[in-house]
Amino acid sequence: MTLFRDLGPFHTTAIGHGEMPLTIENNRGHAVGIETLHASLDAGCRHIDTAWAYYTPGEEEQTGEKLVREALDTWNGPRDEVLVATKVGLRRAWDGDKPIWPRDGKPEHLIEYGKQSAQALGVDAIDLLYLHRHDPEVPYEESCEGIKALLDQGVAKWAGVSNVTIEQLDIARRVLGDKLVAVQNQYSPIHMETQDMMDYCAKLGLAFVCWSPLGGYRHPYDEHLFDPFREVAAKHGVSYQRVVLAWELAKGDHMFVIPGAHRPETILDSLKADELELSPDELAYLG
Ligand SMILES: NC(=O)c1ccc[n+]([C@@H]2O[C@H](COP(=O)([O-])OP(=O)(O)OC[C@H]3O[C@@H](n4cnc5c(N)ncnc54)[C@H](OP(=O)(O)O)[C@@H]3O)[C@@H](O)[C@H]2O)c1
Repeated sequence: MTLFRDLGPFHTTAIGHGEMPLTIENNRGHAVGIETLHASLDAGCRHIDTAWAYYTPGEEEQTGEKLVREALDTWNGPRDEVLVATKVGLRRAWDGDKPIWPRDGKPEHLIEYGKQSAQALGVDAIDLLYLHRHDPEVPYEESCEGIKALLDQGVAKWAGVSNVTIEQLDIARRVLGDKLVAVQNQYSPIHMETQDMMDYCAKLGLAFVCWSPLGGYRHPYDEHLFDPFREVAAKHGVSYQRVVLAWELAKGDHMFVIPGAHRPETILDSLKADELELSPDELAYLG
């Protein structure tokens, strides 16, 4: 992995590892989770993205953060080079047989979740803490105040916001000031409506972190949207997923991607996307 970029004060790999599939429903178990995180760290990945809510609903909470901590504790590489980002503001539950993500943005609860995240990650201060998603029952400003309290108390060093509109980002900027360094929104060939936000982040000097950069696990979606990526991939002799990630990273120096995986093979393939050079014609073709 060769492409490093500045995410706020962190000089880190433009491709991070999205931990979520390793600990939510349909994961392949604890040992595969550790093996998969070790594989990406060994390959040079220096950015792991997790969340308070990355656990299977109804089971032990915060298993994602605990898995990340264990993987780092048992890894022989340079732990202090790894940026670990987490998020607060969502929980897990079942709605019948459907797993859901209830929101909880009350500032006093966010403060509690943030402290629990630091404890689960085994750190005095979280590198980068995102407000996961707006809770419509709480004014956004008040939730941001909860994140600000965690910064002020030294529980988190830097802040981000996720799943935000431009209006919400402006509220967060007012409350969090220069401590706000990243926006994490969904972006992929099946989810391209956040172009305005990407442009706004570039203008403000904020990192834009694409979540579910490969389309995520919520199938079915229109698979044909990936056809142009498959065509370009065939010419390069690589997976179309690598082309998707390279295309996203080519959208600007402020762009980061955090692909997920259930196993080492897929994340190791994705991490090679920063070695793929797409020509200007190919980028124009992909849009
Ligand atoms: N902020 C938010 O609200 C939010 C919401 C959702 C996700 N996220 C973050 O975004 C991260 C990524 O999202 P995601 O995991 O939903 O989706 P994703 O990265 O778009 O897709 C993951 C899926 O793609 C497959 N895959 C990955 N690399 C591949 C490759 N090189 N070749 C073939 N298949 C490949 C994986 O396959 P296998 O199953 O075979 O490994 C996995 O099923 C999450 O882990 C999480 O950190 C954030």
